[in-house]
Amino acid sequence: MKKLVSGKVRDVYEVSDGELVIVTTDRISAFDVILPKPVEGKGKVLNAISLFWFDFTGDIVPNHILSADPGDMPEVFRKPEFEGRTVLVKRLEILPFEFIVRGYMFGNMWRAYSRNEEFCGHRIKDGYALAEKLDVPILTPSTKAHTGHDEYISFGDVGDAVGTERANGLKETCLKLYDACYRYAYGKGIIIADTKFEFGLDRDGNLFLADEIFTPDSSRFWSLAEYRTGVSPKSYDKQLVRDWLLNNQSDGGMRFGSVPDDILKKTAEIYGECLKKITG
Ligand SMILES: Nc1ncnc2c1ncn2[C@@H]1O[C@H](COP(=O)(O)OP(=O)(O)O)[C@@H](O)[C@H]1O
Ligand SMILES: [Mg+2]
Repeated sequence: MKKLVSGKVRDVYEVSDGELVIVTTDRISAFDVILPKPVEGKGKVLNAISLFWFDFTGDIVPNHILSADPGDMPEVFRKPEFEGRTVLVKRLEILPFEFIVRGYMFGNMWRAYSRNEEFCGHRIKDGYALAEKLDVPILTPSTKAHTGHDEYISFGDVGDAVGTERANGLKETCLKLYDACYRYAYGKGIIIADTKFEFGLDRDGNLFLADEIFTPDSSRFWSLAEYRTGVSPKSYDKQLVRDWLLNNQSDGGMRFGSVPDDILKKTAEIYGECLKKITG
């Protein structure tokens, strides 16, 4: 089977003109670098979380999932190594943007806000503390760069590229998705502080939600029980790995190959805990 893309986490195979198989591996990336050692089971967790949300949001927007049943996939994927981490999807032309929705003042937006800068065309009112909930969630798109880092853009830039009507529809969809899933997750003790979507078009120009949704890799999940404004919340993702890398640098920079096994093991547990909380 022809491998089209080997992303940081997923491998994408071409099944036909209209279909792809996406395999979510146990690879983990931090600061856009793939670590040499995997996080056992992470791919299955991400796949299960994403499938849960695709099902949950099916009424809001159609998505790319065709099947998660190995029986529907080419023979080569009916092996134990692919089990629970493989989906058959509609092959789409992915729009070159990351549609990021933020409900909380954090991350790059916080950094820009602290410098009194606009963020993605938003001029945000004064007075927010770190990690504070925004009055209303906002869309802060970025380009999906093929090389180098993604660049933040304004909603107007998306409109220039895809047309105002489609851009407005996308924005409405993103905010609806965030609202519905935020409320569900909140009830399960998780705050979805922000999240990222990718959309794509089929040959007839129909729009579908693609990639992964509301996973700890594509979102910031915080523990509701521990959340407080003004401090950096505990998050259900790669925070442990990121912190280790930042705190254990050498002259050569971050030591991606030296992340200790217990950090990776703890990370696997955090991912597993996240799946349990969301899907029960
Ligand atoms: N339905 C789809 N059709 C075509 N490409 C897709 C579809 N869903 C996801 N993709 C692409 O597959 C890749 C998934 O691999 P991933 O490891 O997440 O890559 P990345 O390193 O870019 O995050 C991404 O490039 C994503 O845009
Ligand atoms: Mg990705």
